[in-house]
Amino acid sequence: MDEVIARVAQAIGAAERILIITGAGLSADSGLPTYRGIGGLYNGQTAEGLPIEAALSGPMLQRDPALCWKYLAELGRACLGAQANAGHYAIAELQRLKPQCWVLTQNIDGYHRAAGSPPERLIEIHGELAPLYCQSCGAIDPQLAEHLSRPLPPTCQLCGGVLRPPVVLFEEMLPERAINSLYAEQGKGFEVVVSIGTSASFPYIVEPLLRTRQAGGFTAEINPGHGDLSDVVDVHVQERALDVLPSLLSHIKRHRICK
Ligand code: APR
Repeated sequence: MDEVIARVAQAIGAAERILIITGAGLSADSGLPTYRGIGGLYNGQTAEGLPIEAALSGPMLQRDPALCWKYLAELGRACLGAQANAGHYAIAELQRLKPQCWVLTQNIDGYHRAAGSPPERLIEIHGELAPLYCQSCGAIDPQLAEHLSRPLPPTCQLCGGVLRPPVVLFEEMLPERAINSLYAEQGKGFEVVVSIGTSASFPYIVEPLLRTRQAGGFTAEINPGHGDLSDVVDVHVQERALDVLPSLLSHIKRHRICK
């Protein structure tokens, strides 16, 4: 595996414009469940016999806030009960070494920020779990943890409206600021794109990687599983992110192959 990691380290070390795309697999090493694949959240139906995508949807939050919040609370407890791992910290360190290294994450756990990734180069395309806000009056409520130990759905202290997290629920639009940032950076081009721990289920996740490949850039995937991207990238490191990222960073630093 070392020579594979050395190849990825070489490409990153020689590049300026780098995009790291991350998914639930990166936080799986923190103990969080993934959405698809073995043990994924989406594999089964909910206790109410619904697909989880229906329970965690925008229309459900309006129709039956208590039901939607039952599953939002599960995600919230999992995220609050765990923490960023050495993979998140390695990515944050890479961003310090490379001023034009960006992160595009689908994760809502906030672990990239916690690990020190610069918010101005972090695109959280599915939003994040906190702070909550009131759907009626817009008041911000930072007490996610406290609300999870009270009856659901959480309500606004000012107007009694139902609170929600700034996440993208199913059947909702992506955050405009995030998508604009992604397209602006994509327009400048990337020399290297590395996909880490994602099933790449969405076009806006696959597109930056395919465009970089078509432009002759270097692409890699870090994922113990084999998915649609695995046959497209230049290098597929078929290992867990936590087993790869720290040594990838030490390769890059040891050989001082940063420009
Ligand atoms: N290291 C790296 N990859 C891993 C690890 C690990 N330790 N464990 C699992 N994986 C891989 C799996 O093989 C899978 O390809 O992580 C991927 C997780 O895929 P998903 O569960 O589909 O998660 P993700 O790709 O992030 O889902 C995207 O779907 O419903 C939405 O909002 C949800 O953000 C989520 C999005």
